[in-house]
Amino acid sequence: MKTVIVIGAQGKMGQAALTGLGKHKVITASRSGEGCDYKVDITNEQSVRQLFEQVGHFDAVVNTVGFCEYANFVEMTEQQWMTTVMSKMMGQINLVRIGQEYIADNGSFTLISGILNVKPIPFAIADATTSGAIDTFVKCVALEMPRGIRVNAINPTVLEEAWEVYGEMMPGFQPVPGTLVGKAFERAVDGFLNGEVLFVDA
Ligand SMILES: NC(=O)c1ccc[n+]([C@@H]2O[C@H](COP(=O)([O-])OP(=O)(O)OC[C@H]3O[C@@H](n4cnc5c(N)ncnc54)[C@H](OP(=O)(O)O)[C@@H]3O)[C@@H](O)[C@H]2O)c1
Repeated sequence: MKTVIVIGAQGKMGQAALTGLGKHKVITASRSGEGCDYKVDITNEQSVRQLFEQVGHFDAVVNTVGFCEYANFVEMTEQQWMTTVMSKMMGQINLVRIGQEYIADNGSFTLISGILNVKPIPFAIADATTSGAIDTFVKCVALEMPRGIRVNAINPTVLEEAWEVYGEMMPGFQPVPGTLVGKAFERAVDGFLNGEVLFVDA
């Protein structure tokens, strides 16, 4: 049994991740802290550091947070870009950058990207771009991690549980159940994969 910190646990992707982590001691966190063990803001270095210090020993971090702004490219402001970059890209990079100081030997980080960087749709340029950045980040940073620490990303298509929200903007996509995406999180945490992007598509 590993101690796994799941960030964004009450969100749709967090709930999907939890379905694959049943055999572990799970510690949950989110920005509001509602329904979770801890509060953390992944866009704030001090908050991230405080989470890891408060938890103490942990073997894995599963992040399912990455806030994205949606707009047509020509209408998207720099502020909207920066909000997305600071959450979905830098927020996740900072979890690994700071977390590697605290995580146990042979621990793992599992990040979230999303299928829109390989299957683009209108309005999702910032999500797609930062998802692509995360896929590249995990492949490359895995080569530099100390103490046997692994880093992977889950790149899922839309969840069945989120189809009501995103379905209209994603014609021709087939949603997948959260339990299937949970299996990918399980493989990332329990397996030996490193520097991999685990696609879950239909
Ligand atoms: N849903 C899908 O079908 C799907 C598919 C592929 C990829 N993704 C990606 O998965 C990620 C999460 O999506 P979701 O659908 O799960 O969103 P969601 O249901 O809106 O949940 C978002 C979660 O993130 C937390 N959060 C937001 N900003 C935070 C911050 N700065 N620090 C800490 N926690 C924060 C929220 O916590 P509070 O409620 O406490 O604020 C909430 O738990 C996104 O990057 C999305 O692109 C989603």
